[in-house]
Amino acid sequence: MNKLLSKIEPSGIRRFFDIIERFGDVISLGVGEPDFQVDWNIREEAIYCIEKGATRYTSNQGLLELREEISRNIVKNQKIYYDPEREILVTCGVSQGLDLALRTILNPGDEVIIIEPCYVAYKPLTILSYGRPVVLKTSEENSFKIDLDELKRKISNKTKAIILNYPNNPTGMSFSKNELKEIADIANEFNLYIISDEIYDKLTYDRKHITIAKYIKEKVIYLNGFSKAYSMTGFRIGYICCDEELLRNMLKIHQYSMLCAPTISQYAAIEALRNEEKILRKILPEYKARRNYVYKRLNEMGLKAILPDGAFYIFPSIRSIGIESEKFSERLLFEKRVAVVPGNAFGEDYKYNIRISYANDMKKLKIAMDRIEEFVKEILKLKEEIK
Ligand SMILES: Cc1ncc(COP(=O)(O)O)c(C=O)c1O
Repeated sequence: MNKLLSKIEPSGIRRFFDIIERFGDVISLGVGEPDFQVDWNIREEAIYCIEKGATRYTSNQGLLELREEISRNIVKNQKIYYDPEREILVTCGVSQGLDLALRTILNPGDEVIIIEPCYVAYKPLTILSYGRPVVLKTSEENSFKIDLDELKRKISNKTKAIILNYPNNPTGMSFSKNELKEIADIANEFNLYIISDEIYDKLTYDRKHITIAKYIKEKVIYLNGFSKAYSMTGFRIGYICCDEELLRNMLKIHQYSMLCAPTISQYAAIEALRNEEKILRKILPEYKARRNYVYKRLNEMGLKAILPDGAFYIFPSIRSIGIESEKFSERLLFEKRVAVVPGNAFGEDYKYNIRISYANDMKKLKIAMDRIEEFVKEILKLKEEIK
């Protein structure tokens, strides 16, 4: 076996969800997957592709028509231009984008700064690319914001990149314009790449999402995809935008390891972009209402949570309950049939947080919140009686 694999744990999310499959009546607030169905225009385009036989390989880089559509979309939303011929590569989701980015820039022993709590793939993929993850922790006391002085202290002569993810999985936190400028300045000063995973950008509720590429385009590897805003998780489609030379090198790995992203999904993605406004008009008010509801309920029952800026997660503290999140999540599942993810799946320090996904309809969310409240009350009552 590859020795690096001994340094990698199976995903803390999946492990927990294998248990859930044993129960039938669970409300799952666990998986990071939209509950909305894929828009009919997108499904019809995929069906039509099969009917007309558009099922062959595309260019390694992806259909030019899709790259042009992606480029137009970024100009429309962010007022920044990526050349579809030279600066955009279509991938099998952001997952492959991350892997490609890391494999392209890292030499053995290079360090990558990873900001925790974070999406479960960053550390393992860095290790598999012979890199060394250097963790920068954030805490709820600071609203999960980065301490820039600490960020600077984490930088060594081996540091190659910082991975950013905003809106963040699992906290929902995003960055303001000023924060992004400051991070860009640091990357510039120390000549670092920023791998910016902006997969939840369209799901930002109270302000406009800004890509960090606006402030330091030449050093940013911008990752985005279709899984979240367009509910296309199973299509496995995403894209990378970056500097031309970097992209040319990524393409060397991509053409041998993947050849191209799935053709049907590429056509479906064109349709998704052409219907973006209609899709977002439907889902954004719904996600925002759910976020507000879940935030209010959790805080009212004593599980202190920070209002997320975006994505569809909230990361409340369960410290007041006095049970660690693995135990809390397990008991909540067994006793009340509600599934959440223990916080330590996103960084070992977060054993007093849980991740709740509100990608569920309001009716289910209400029942789930009632059950969590009941569970919390029972534990606190018992604690009181023992005293
Ligand atoms: C932050 C983040 N990045 C990447 C991914 C994976 O996205 P994709 O389906 O495009 O591979 C996820 C999925 O949950 C995620 O939360």
